[in-house]
Amino acid sequence: MAKHITILCDSSMLENKRKGMQWLVGTRTMPCTVISVIHCLRLNAGYPDIQAESAELRILLPKGLEIVGALLNEVGELEKARKIYEITMEVALAVNGDDSCKKSGLIIACLESADNQSLKFYHGTSQSLNTVESVVHPGNPGAHLWKKMCLLRCKLHIQLPLYASGFDNPSDYSRQLEAAFSNLIKKLRGDALYCIVEGSSTTPRKVVSGIFKDSDNFHQSGNKSHTTQGDSQCSDFCPSSVFTSSHGLQMPMPLNFVLLIHQSLEKGINLAPFAEYLPANGEAILRVLNLDLDIISVAHRELSVHEAISSLILTALTDQLYAMRDMLLEEIPEHPELCSYVFCPPGFAHPISCIYNLNYGESEFKTVEWRKLLHQRLSLPMDRPLLRRANALSFTQNEFGAQKQGTQRLSNVHVNMPTSSGVVGGQCSLIHGSYEYYHYLQDSFNDSGWGCAYRSLQTIFSWFKLQNYTVLDVPMHGKIQEILVKIGDKEPSFKGSQNWIGAIELSFVLDELLGVSSKILNVRSGAEVPEKCRELALHFETQGTPVMIGGGVLAYTLLGVDYNDTTGDCAFLILDPHYTGGEDLRTIWAGGWCGWKKPVNSKGEEFFLRDKFYNFLLPQRPNTI
Ligand SMILES: *[C@@H]1O[C@H](CO)[C@@H](O)[C@H](O)[C@H]1NC(C)=O
Ligand SMILES: *[C@@H]1O[C@H](CO)[C@@H](O)[C@H](O)[C@H]1NC(C)=O
Ligand SMILES: *[C@@H]1O[C@H](CO)[C@@H](O)[C@H](O)[C@H]1NC(C)=O
Ligand SMILES: *[C@@H]1O[C@H](CO)[C@@H](O)[C@H](O)[C@H]1NC(C)=O
Ligand SMILES: *[C@@H]1O[C@H](CO)[C@@H](O)[C@H](O)[C@H]1NC(C)=O
Repeated sequence: MAKHITILCDSSMLENKRKGMQWLVGTRTMPCTVISVIHCLRLNAGYPDIQAESAELRILLPKGLEIVGALLNEVGELEKARKIYEITMEVALAVNGDDSCKKSGLIIACLESADNQSLKFYHGTSQSLNTVESVVHPGNPGAHLWKKMCLLRCKLHIQLPLYASGFDNPSDYSRQLEAAFSNLIKKLRGDALYCIVEGSSTTPRKVVSGIFKDSDNFHQSGNKSHTTQGDSQCSDFCPSSVFTSSHGLQMPMPLNFVLLIHQSLEKGINLAPFAEYLPANGEAILRVLNLDLDIISVAHRELSVHEAISSLILTALTDQLYAMRDMLLEEIPEHPELCSYVFCPPGFAHPISCIYNLNYGESEFKTVEWRKLLHQRLSLPMDRPLLRRANALSFTQNEFGAQKQGTQRLSNVHVNMPTSSGVVGGQCSLIHGSYEYYHYLQDSFNDSGWGCAYRSLQTIFSWFKLQNYTVLDVPMHGKIQEILVKIGDKEPSFKGSQNWIGAIELSFVLDELLGVSSKILNVRSGAEVPEKCRELALHFETQGTPVMIGGGVLAYTLLGVDYNDTTGDCAFLILDPHYTGGEDLRTIWAGGWCGWKKPVNSKGEEFFLRDKFYNFLLPQRPNTI
């Protein structure tokens, strides 16, 4: 059919040499265009498992984006392309929500020949599949896409009460669960639904109601013309501002939709307080399901607002609700909390969505396995976190403007420091990435004299937080003590005390909160510390995490070493948690609270004491996702 197709993603995405099937993603409003590529993961006897595959893709892809074809990393003649077409059509029908792809056809890509690994594209319907003559790669694909399209977003927090006469009875539980969800979905599809459309402060607001009055016609006729008379378009409200994802892609700020249910309209006029009576056979338990929905859709700028709500926003919400219900049917957690997140992983010109079960910690096996699958689907590197909660898009323009309570800490205080290490011809190895400087007396908490190791732990923790390994808050002293009691390392009386902790305790806390393991380096005397320089340099080069030094009654944070292999000359970049002053860089530098320390300074004073035993805690950077 089509002579040309347009590719709006990195060609590296298409050239992924992994075997197997990949789905081509596009949108019906930009025909014959590939926007991204997603691996097929769920197989059944070598073929895509249509049901499992489509269920996952419906959540992953924003509404408005669809399966428009497939790519198989195998040599494919027309005959083979036809076969792929049939399988892909089944998945497309299940994912896209209607059968318009039967008319518009699919794009099928295979390898040219055994010697020529370049891609060959076919396009058309089952009967008219033909070789595509040319493939166009416009420069700046993101701009090409977002010139025509806009982002829609809707966040919804739902607390769904569930009464059951015993959660031990699975059939009772699933019955209740299913009823609760269908009730909820009915409300979303009812007459009482109102929707506020919010662009930005400079664009108008609009309240839309009666969404389902005439939308049924629209669904049945499959009439996708973008405008209906008198109805406003998304572009009337779209904010003109853009945001930049962490890998540098610019996308328009989304248009927000706020959903409201008109309660009195639903129950009858003049609603009085009422109580609902739910008879139970025995003792009943109330469990509140916490559902946090965050949906993102991609719409043509000229799409009418009514259609955007009915065909994109509500469909996406319904899909997410069904997916959450199915997750809850699988198991019954104590305090169910399901949350969806929007990400824009590197290589993608559009966002994607995932639902996480917050009953599992981020480093728990189940969560990690799930993220691994998602990384595979999206061909993301397997050695760094990209789909953790800390990576999720929040779309707030000045996220760092809204400061939390407590001390406003300095970060990366060693950067641009005026003094040098004094090592001649040394090789300088420093931490990779950012940290915050935690020290005595911060947050109006007087830990002077006992809290130095706690502060060092907080600095290390902040590094993991700023590198997006966690969304947890940096733990305060009380929390750290609570963890040590909880894991059985300390007696309950330890909580609230002013007792010191050391490198071993730090490693327990890092393991418990972050799943991070640590190496501990023992040095019998301060005089032997310089011998460990090579090992420390290697740590900074390969792991790049801040190190805690515990020795005698003092704890320090180590940010790097400068070391000359030949002469043995060395210096240590120390960040000192014993600082009690304000957050002022000049004072910190001038006082040497952050600075290079030689084992013996110019006055002959030793930094590492000869008669003290030292422990170096080297947190290992998780080679995980
Ligand atoms: C592979 O095939 C493509 C398309 O037919 C052609 O343009 C390209 O030159 C070929 N490459 C090689 C190395 O033969
Ligand atoms: C779609 O709607 C437009 C305007 O409402 C109308 O002119 C057109 O005939 C419709 N097309 C179909 C296929 O129903
Ligand atoms: C962490 O994630 C945020 C939000 O996506 C991003 O802005 C930041 O650059 C990321 N940091 C790193 C070190 O990747
Ligand atoms: C150590 O310093 C000496 C003398 O300045 C220099 O010749 C040598 O190259 C340095 N070694 C390393 C590994 O940098
Ligand atoms: C903090 O506590 C120590 C010991 O209890 C005390 O000597 C010191 O004056 C206190 N400092 C501040 C700033 O309150």
